[in-house]
Order: sequence, then C-alpha cells, then structure tokens
Amino acid sequence: MQLKSFLICTGLTGLIVLQACETDVAIIEPNEYLLQIPAGFTYPEIPEDNPLSADKIALGRKLFYDPALSVDSTISCASCHKIENAFADHIAISKGVEGRLGFRNAPTLANIAWVPVMTMDGGNPTLETQPYIPIETHEEMGFNMVLLSERLQADPEYTMAFQDVFNRMPDPFGITRALAAFERTIISGNARYDQYMYQGNVEALTEAEIRGMDIFFSTEVGCVNCHSGFMFTNSAFENNGFFADYSTDSGRARITTLSTDVGKFKVPTLRNIGVTAPYMHNGSVATLQEIIQQYAAGGSGHENQSAFIQPFLLTESQQNDLIAFLLSLTDEQFLTNTNLVE
Ligand code: HEC
Ligand code: HEC
Repeated sequence: MQLKSFLICTGLTGLIVLQACETDVAIIEPNEYLLQIPAGFTYPEIPEDNPLSADKIALGRKLFYDPALSVDSTISCASCHKIENAFADHIAISKGVEGRLGFRNAPTLANIAWVPVMTMDGGNPTLETQPYIPIETHEEMGFNMVLLSERLQADPEYTMAFQDVFNRMPDPFGITRALAAFERTIISGNARYDQYMYQGNVEALTEAEIRGMDIFFSTEVGCVNCHSGFMFTNSAFENNGFFADYSTDSGRARITTLSTDVGKFKVPTLRNIGVTAPYMHNGSVATLQEIIQQYAAGGSGHENQSAFIQPFLLTESQQNDLIAFLLSLTDEQFLTNTNLVE
C-alpha cells in the first residue's frame, strides 16, 4: 500500500515532495500525519526518509511497549521511560535485563522531536539511529538488531504491520523508523506555564509561581542562559559545575576526547521536572531544593565550569518561589495521554 513517486508527479496527493519524477525511490506512506503542535512551539523537523503516518506511529508504540525487544523478553523501552515520569524513570539508574545497571539516569523523552542530537554526550545523531543503543547495550536490552528482526518476523501480527507500513518484513530499517515516529508524538506543551505564557490564561500561575518565574528569567540567577526557549534548553553541551570530579563519566569528552569537554552534558529540558527526580546525568541529586542551593553556591569550580554558573543569593522564600515555578512546568494532561500508552 504505497504511493510511488509517479503519483507525486501527477500531483494527485497534494503533497509537496521535491523528489525527481524519474526516480522511483520516493515512498510516501498513506495517511500522512500532522503532529498537534502546542502553542509557542515550532513544527519539528521530520526526516525526509521517515515521514509520519498513523499506522507507523501505532507500530512504533507497540514496539516501544514490547519487552520482546530485549534478549529475554523482560525489558521494554517503557521499563525505563515511564509515562508517569514524563518518559523518564524515578530511580537514579534503571535496571536492564537480569538487573544489570548502566551508568546514566534515564532522561525524559518529552518533546524529543525537537532535540537535535541524542544522548547526554551527543554521541548518537538521530532518533532513527538511537534505538540501536538500548537494544544492543549489554546493560539495557542486551539483544541484537538482526536477531530481533528475526524474532519479529516469526510474529504474524508484526509481519502484517511492517508490510502495511514499510512494504517489507520486520527489519532494522522499519524497527528504528517506527520507534522514532512514535517518539516524535511524545509531545508535552500544556503545563500551567504554557497556559499562562502561550494560551493567554493569566490565572494559570499563582503569585508565588510568577515570582519564581521572574527569578528564573533574571540575569542575576541566570538559569535562562542555558535553560532557554520553549524547550528550556539551548541544546548546548555545558559543564554546570555540579561535580568536582567527572572521572566516572566525562560527558561530552567521551565522544570528542577533548579535555576541555570534560564534565559537559547536553543541557536538559526542565519541562515536567517535578516528576523526573532524581536529577543530573547520574541521578545523584534527589531534590530541586538541593539543585537550587548548589547553583546558588556557584558550582564546584571545575576547570570547565561554564562562566554562566555564578554564586547568587536567594532567601528561603525566594527559593521556594523558584521551586514553585519549576513545578508549574508539569503537564498533567501529558502524563495521562491515552494516545501515548500501550
Ligand atoms: C535500561 C533502561 C533503558 C531502556 C530499556 C531504554 N532506555 Fe532510553 N535511555 C536510557 C538512559 C539511561 C538514557 C541516557 C543515555 C545517555 O545519555 O547516554 C536513555 C536515552 C534515550 C534517548 C535519548 C534522549 C536524549 O534526550 O538524548 C532516547 C531517544 C531513548 N533513550 C529512547 C529509548 C528507546 C526507543 C528505547 C527502546 C528501544 C529505550 N530508550 C530503552 C535508559 C533506557
Ligand atoms: C551553564 C548552563 C546552565 C545554567 C546557567 C543552569 N543550568 Fe541547569 N543544567 C545544566 C546542565 C548541563 C545540566 C545537566 C548536568 C548533568 O546532567 O550532570 C543541568 C541540569 C539541571 C537540572 C536537572 C535536570 C535533570 O533532568 O536532571 C535542573 C532542575 C536544573 N538544571 C535547573 C537549573 C536552574 C533552576 C538554574 C538556575 C538557577 C540552572 N539550572 C542553571 C546547565 C545549566
């Protein structure tokens, strides 16, 4: 069930596809799907080789929740990326197959469609290439893409779904693209902050939350130098001075091997931060209060610490206001969105 490029050339689909008419490689799935974009957000970039369709998203969701993706069929993507925790986890290090432990805290997948590069050290380029990591990492799903493809090929339901969506048997091409398509629908943009900021509801935030917002965006406190824009991240790799010693996880330097990159991590979003504790790359910080106090102290002074990390003074009541603001970034509707559950 595919519309080949000759249809595009005739203009029957009404789609704008800049694909040369003589090639027959452009495959556009039926029921082209438009994401529902929250007010204040841009439309995310969708790769040309992985257009969205409702059937592909449904297949990706089935895969995301299926423990068959792990070697012993015990761990799914959702074992570590739980909807109630905004697709993060509530423990520092999530368990993979046979209780094996990795070394990083599972991050939120909320709004992953807008994240330009995958993993905290930027070691993986796209949502389409990322699934190889959990599926093949010994401490996560401990399996193998080829063996997984064979397992799914033995399943008539999967075989039919992959044929419908990709016109081929289950294989790494389809598995990774379906997962990425589903992940692009993990969108969160209806926190009370959004209602106040982008939906014109001036009642949506309390007085304390508004005071906290002013603190967050103030130059003295400087959070917004890194946690900026509708995503609350500048997507840069920064050393926020939380640790004096990064020898167990050097962050960006794992990829670049540059000493100047030691301790730099991709600036995380702060959306839904109220439900994604514990915090930081290793999950070692339990509360938002500790985070604010550590930032206020001006960081560890690590040699790569960002110049944006400077000591500041907030009274206890101002700290509480700042925390109240951070908690207003939780999108309750998202946490129970039935389109995103199994
Ligand atoms: C055992 C726990 C575990 C499982 C299972 C798991 N993940 Fe993750 N996931 C993590 C951790 C930990 C990270 C952070 C890795 C890093 O930054 O190096 C992560 C990172 C990611 C990221 C990158 C997020 C970002 O902002 O950079 C994506 C996307 C992702 N996982 C999707 C998936 C998908 C899809 C599956 C299933 C195929 C999956 N995960 C299975 C723990 C897990
Ligand atoms: C220099 C850039 C920078 C500034 C300024 C900054 N942060 Fe961060 N923030 C980061 C980075 C990088 C991380 C991730 C570090 C890690 O994983 O070890 C982070 C992590 C966090 C986390 C934990 C996120 C998670 O999911 O684990 C919170 C909460 C946070 N910052 C809040 C703030 C607040 C509040 C301020 C202002 C007081 C602030 N940040 C200022 C760069 C910055």
